[in-house]
Amino acid sequence: MSTVPSYDEMMSAAEMIAQRIPERPRAAVILGSGLGGVADALSDPVTIPYHEIPGFPIPTVPGHAGELVIGKAGEVPVAAMRGRFHLYEGYSPQQVTFPVRVLRQLGADVLIVTAAAGGLNAEFSPGTFMALVDHIGLPLLAGLNPLLGPNDERLGERFPALTGAYDAELRGQLHTIALRHGIPITNGVYIMLSGPTFETPAELQMLRGFGADAVGMSTVPEVAVARHMGMRVLAVCVITNAALRDSQLNIPAEHKEVLDVAAQAGPQLATILVDLLRDL
Ligand code: HPA
Repeated sequence: MSTVPSYDEMMSAAEMIAQRIPERPRAAVILGSGLGGVADALSDPVTIPYHEIPGFPIPTVPGHAGELVIGKAGEVPVAAMRGRFHLYEGYSPQQVTFPVRVLRQLGADVLIVTAAAGGLNAEFSPGTFMALVDHIGLPLLAGLNPLLGPNDERLGERFPALTGAYDAELRGQLHTIALRHGIPITNGVYIMLSGPTFETPAELQMLRGFGADAVGMSTVPEVAVARHMGMRVLAVCVITNAALRDSQLNIPAEHKEVLDVAAQAGPQLATILVDLLRDL
């Protein structure tokens, strides 16, 4: 697998998937740690293990399966990624985002991203759902941007703007549906770091000072590539740990807590997202 997959590799992967499914997906969903519920809720599912798709990386983290589930939410064909890729696994930004390119090529023009995140805003306790209104992509700002290198005009423009990257209309629909289910969802700014080390107390304080409400190790590269290709984007994270507060109490972050809280919150988030997908 090349660290910078080519246009032809993207087309081959999309072709291979297209041959296995009855209908091209209109929306793509990336399911974060413990958040696989959307995939389980799709009807008439076709499951394709990542290792069967040419050029797809393989997840290396516990809590991230590696399969694409293509099925329907109501009448809407959806491709759900059970398992995603991270920079900390050693994958390049282009590898991390390759599946988004493939799913866009396959037909999806909406991307929904879910993720676990640590809370920086003191009001966001574990279990809180936060819709992203904006992000700070530290690794991208520092040279790990999936759009580095020659720009392929067939995919998108050289200098895509990320103002308004998170679609206000989709976020509005999310809030309406959540309200109907009596599930509170807040808005906030997500900051991405490469990981895999959890942040130090001083770093967490700095990140809060930057204006971020939640911190995580994913999402931003996928959103950048989705916007490059003109997709509408919705992203929601589950606050799995009060990262800043815990650090001030000298309590270290733990991956197990992240997975446990995400798994508890997962079904509620799946309910909301399936309703939203149905209405697309
Ligand atoms: N830090 C970074 N990423 C995370 C965290 C955290 O505290 N919790 C879940 N993902």
